[in-house]
Amino acid sequence: MSFINQNKAAWNQLADSGSVFAKVATDTECAEPLKVLDGRGWLPGSVRGLDVLCLAAAGGWQSVLYASAGANVTVVDISPSMLALDRREAERRQLKVRTLEASMDDLSELAEASFDIVHQPVSTCYVANLGQVYAEISRVLRDGGLYISQHKQPTSLQVIGRTDRQHYVIGTSYYHQGPLPPATDTSYREPGATEFLHRWEQLVGGLCRAGFVLEDLSEPYRGDPTAAPGDYHHRGWFVAPYLRMKARRVNRATQPAQAASKLWMPQ
Ligand SMILES: C[S@@+](CC[C@H](N)C(=O)[O-])C[C@H]1O[C@@H](n2cnc3c(N)ncnc32)[C@H](O)[C@@H]1O
Repeated sequence: MSFINQNKAAWNQLADSGSVFAKVATDTECAEPLKVLDGRGWLPGSVRGLDVLCLAAAGGWQSVLYASAGANVTVVDISPSMLALDRREAERRQLKVRTLEASMDDLSELAEASFDIVHQPVSTCYVANLGQVYAEISRVLRDGGLYISQHKQPTSLQVIGRTDRQHYVIGTSYYHQGPLPPATDTSYREPGATEFLHRWEQLVGGLCRAGFVLEDLSEPYRGDPTAAPGDYHHRGWFVAPYLRMKARRVNRATQPAQAASKLWMPQ
């Protein structure tokens, strides 16, 4: 089975078993959707009438919140079970949400320069070629469009387990290519999913090379010094799990020709 199909099956299973990642938006959240979506103030004051792509973001949360705020929403995801939640919740709330089953590295069903905002939660770890994902997002965003994304940090994906003394073990090379080996500490891994490590130069440098300017970067905090080993807050205290980026699509007319890659490792 291809890794895309493995991840589709894994996410169908997560959706069907009521995973925390398949948590739909609540009435309280829908009352103040931008506050909920945008704790850092990265979104414009209003998204009413804007075209928003919720990328790899099915599950009935982001799509319903953006639609509640008046945006024209498209959700792309590989998991039919996750997408079914977006359709069910949108229908229940009489909101319009377009759903599309596709992989984030092939958005050929979507027209060039057709979105004002692309919002992507943690998901790039599920594809091998991050550069291809960035190229597709760059293609479908309008000039000046906003790309908000969250990713797993490479160090967190290098962790394979814990010692008897509760020290985290970096057991996978930073330069690992291909699917990640299984880990015994699964705090930040999804069961049955195939994941890939993307290095900082790919996560941030690749974003700039794809025609974006980085406007902000944050590291969502998951640490708790009092948490017990095995709890994801314990691991989050030692290894930051995520990064979040706010990037702006530069104008196509002024975009410099892409510089030849100076990476010494193959992409
Ligand atoms: C962490 S969930 C995000 C959704 C959720 N609403 C949230 O933020 O809590 C990651 C999503 O990525 C999707 N996904 C995994 N691989 C994908 C791919 N190649 N293309 C598109 N979506 C993918 C999964 O189906 C899943 O819905």
